[in-house]
Formats: sequence, structure tokens, C-alpha cells
Amino acid sequence: MKRTWWKEAVVYQVYWRSFLDTNGDGYGDLEGVRQKLPYIKELGADVVWLNPFYVSPDKDNGYDIADYYRVMDKAGTMEDFERLLQEAHAIGLKVILDLVVNHTSDQHAWFLEAKASVDSPKRDYYIWHDPVDGKAPNNWRSYFAPSCWEYHAESEQYYYHSFAVEQPDLNWENGTLRQEIYRMMRFWLDKGIDGFRMDVINLLAKREDLSDVADPYDLSYLANNPGIHDYLQEMHDQVLQHYDCMTVGEIPFVTPAEGALYVDESRRELDTLFHFQIADEMPTWDMLRFKEIQRDWYEGLKGKGWNSQFLNNHDHTRQVTRYGNDREHRIASAKLLATLTHTLPGMPYIYQGEEIGMTGVAFDSIDEYQDIAMRNRYAEEVANGRDAREVLTSLQLLSRDNSRTPMQWNTLKHGGFSKGKPWMSINPNYTYLNVETDLSQEDSVFRYYQRLIRLRRENPALIYGEFMDLLPNDPFIHVYERTLELERFVIVLNHSNHTHDVPLPVEGMELLLSNMVTEHEKLAPHEARIYYSSLRH
Ligand code: GLC
Ligand code: CA
Repeated sequence: MKRTWWKEAVVYQVYWRSFLDTNGDGYGDLEGVRQKLPYIKELGADVVWLNPFYVSPDKDNGYDIADYYRVMDKAGTMEDFERLLQEAHAIGLKVILDLVVNHTSDQHAWFLEAKASVDSPKRDYYIWHDPVDGKAPNNWRSYFAPSCWEYHAESEQYYYHSFAVEQPDLNWENGTLRQEIYRMMRFWLDKGIDGFRMDVINLLAKREDLSDVADPYDLSYLANNPGIHDYLQEMHDQVLQHYDCMTVGEIPFVTPAEGALYVDESRRELDTLFHFQIADEMPTWDMLRFKEIQRDWYEGLKGKGWNSQFLNNHDHTRQVTRYGNDREHRIASAKLLATLTHTLPGMPYIYQGEEIGMTGVAFDSIDEYQDIAMRNRYAEEVANGRDAREVLTSLQLLSRDNSRTPMQWNTLKHGGFSKGKPWMSINPNYTYLNVETDLSQEDSVFRYYQRLIRLRRENPALIYGEFMDLLPNDPFIHVYERTLELERFVIVLNHSNHTHDVPLPVEGMELLLSNMVTEHEKLAPHEARIYYSSLRH
């Protein structure tokens, strides 16, 4: 496939409100991100993805936007952003922003106008429906509420929201609205940003058939509806193709065949995607399913489009807690998972704190949780009569707050994140798990990431090489190869808490990188090795 800068890039995701607070208000800010650009550069990342920092009532941490053109006070000012962007570019880092255009905040001027009068031209920017038999039009749920319909008494109509009540969905059928969005995209691209991470972008088109669904909890009916590819092709044509930028679409509920429709290069839609087969189907580690998903996506996108590799982000519990071992093998496990995401086919994404092996949290009380998804679900279940303790426990492992606790920089109060009171409690393990401590240790996770990133950068086989699973049926050991022309890499991972034999044809190969020093005949728990050979020699 054609070589491009973004296919070779490693992305570092900054959830800025939890990254570094420079003015003591308890929220991380853009100035904090700017100050830490050298840190991100030193790690070896190429691109920084910033979660939304636009004006927002912050019901869903910035994913409910009230003004696409301005920066929210918590984050700082437009000058702060411009300075950040300029300094990032000066040290060779690209910056991509979150594009949230499936919905706005209910405080956006468009929605306020739409609500105020059925005759307003903005009314049609949103999706309205008359009651059916005096009730909501159907039984569809939304991500953050029991129904995707919210009644607006003054106009006696319901509006549609895929997420919280405070996040009304935009009506992409309206051509004027689409032009407004394209104008806004150009505004940011013209400032010099390098692309977008597109929030739930395959939800833009809505289902036309409004009948009840059999299982309202399976939200797939919200996504991939007819018309979506027309919108994305139009967006590409009118905006994206005119810039040297990258796009990554957040695309839930897709198989590889459907995913290919979004990123097939000949279709001119998106560059790459996040699919959610791992996150949705694997609440905890499932080696055989994981291997199958990797093989399927490799085959499905081969020669057509580009994948992404991630195991956590601001919505998904930290990978070492969810998919690894965050106790006695934390360091080895964090490195093994990194080895996976950096050597499988696709762009690797690092979520802040992952590079030191940060872990999830379990708070004692629902009051300590901030996540609207968790709080709303908790309230709904408790109102339905379920035991409050039990509900809390059942929601904890996958709560989005697991990965939203503040970044742990050092052993100072609040982990050096803030001199004020952090907007969200810090994980108490910051006393020994923090950047400063990690860097001072021989087996630093951060330094392992550095080596891994360098290795990938220097070896096109790890980026463009063919992929083959060499041990598809082993439930503990993962072995695969990446090959390009005369170069061959074999990656051997013991994703288990036990010792295993090295199962494979690695004789004569050079061990280039491993996450521990061990006896070579056996694989220690969570051991990861990268072997290399070249026919050139
Ligand atoms: C995406 C975001 C998530 C947000 C949702 C609604 O899934 O990653 O944080 O709540 O979209 O915008
Ligand atoms: Ca701040």
C-alpha cells in the first residue's frame, strides 16, 4: 500500500483535563499540555490527539459542545491553543483534534433557536418527531439514557439523542447544517491542525424505519445507517482532500467488511478507524477471540485501508487493569501489551499514563464517580430496584473514570498533577506509580515504550509488513510474524501468569527486544520478545 506519514506515526492521546493543571483550578489545561510537549516528544510519539476543549457545559466532559469556535475556560484560551500548536510543530509533533459532529450540547445556539420556534431555520438542524400514541416514537435506547427520545413540552415533539438528554443529535440530512460543519472544520484546519479524530462518526445517518427493535440494549441500530457513506464522501470531497491531514473515525458496531467501507482508500472517506470488537466483546482478556479479531481485520483491510491499534482510551478501562495483570506482574504486563499494539498491523495509540503502566481505580462511593454514563446507568438500575452496592460493583470494572483519573507525575501531593483540588480523585497508587519513579527505575515502562517506538520507526516491516498468526490456537502464547521483502520479525508473547516453553522456530533469529532478562528456553509470565532475521545477511 501507498506509504504515508500517518501510517508510520504513533499517536499519543491527551485527555487534557487530567494531564497537568497549571493554574491550580483542579483541571488540566492546554498550557499544561504545552509544557509537557517535550515529554511526549521524548517518548517518541509523532501525533498528539487532544480530546475536545471547545466551549461546553461539560455534561459529558467536552463532548457536549456549545460553541465549536471557542476554547472553554477550563482549558484556557485560543492563544494557549495556538501557542501549543506552534510549539508542537516546532519540535516535529503533529496535532489532531476531536471532531464531535453527531450531536451538540443542548446549550448550543442552534439548539436554543431550534427549541424556541418550530419555524426557526435551525429547527431542522436537529431531529424531531411527534409522539406516537402519546408516547416516544419507539423503544430505542441511547448510550446514556433509557430512551433516545426526549420530550419537549412547548412544541409537543420529541427530539432524538444518541447520548445524554443534553446532547441532541444533529440532522445530517440538512445541507445547510452540513455546510456549517465543513466551515468549522476548515477553520481548524486553516489554523494548521493536522487532522481529526472523529467522534462516533458512523452514527451521523439515522435509521429510517422507526419500528421497535427486538433488543433495545444492542445499540447497533444507532450506527451504520444508509446515507453515512454519502456524508463522509462529501466531507472528504469538500474539506479533507484539500489538506495534508489524517482522519481516524470512531466506528462502533462494525465487522471488518463494514469497516473497510469507511477506510478503503479508493472510496475517499476516512484514513483509519477505531473499531470496537475488542472493547465490546472482551470485557476481560480472551486470547483466542483476540487473535481471531486481529486475523479478521488484517484480512478484511488488506490492500484496502489502514487499521488502528488501541486497548484503552478515555472511555475504556486502562489496559493493564482490564487486559493484563496490574498486580505482581504490572510492569511486565504493561510492556507486553505495548509490544502488541506497536507490532500488530495498524497505527498504535498510546493513552496518557499508559506509558508508565497506570492502572484503573475502584472508588467506594458513586459520589466519587463523575462519568455521566456510569452515573445515569447507576440511577436507572437503582430506580429499578436493584441493590445499590451490587450495581456499583458491577459498573466499576468498565467505568470510564478508570482511565480519567489525573496523570501521575511524581510523589508530590496529587501526584504533581495540580496544586489545587483535582476535579477527580487521583489513584492512591501515585505514591509509587508515577513518571518520576518509573524513569528512575531500571525496568522503566516509559523507556521500554521508547525502544519499541524506535524499533517500529526504523523497521518498515513492522509497519507495512505482512502479518501472519503462527499459533492461532494457543490460549496463552501469542506468536506472529511481520515480513517485508527480506526482513522477518517474530513476536512472541506469553500473555499469562505462568511459565511456558518457547514454542517456536526462532532458532537463528536475533533477539532484538524483550521486556525482561530470562533464561531463553522458557517464557516467564508476561514475557514479550521480538526476534529478527534478514535474508540480506
Ligand atoms: C465518544 C467519546 C465519548 C463520548 C461520546 C459522545 O464515544 O469518546 O467520550 O461520551 O462519544 O460524544
Ligand atoms: Ca487548570
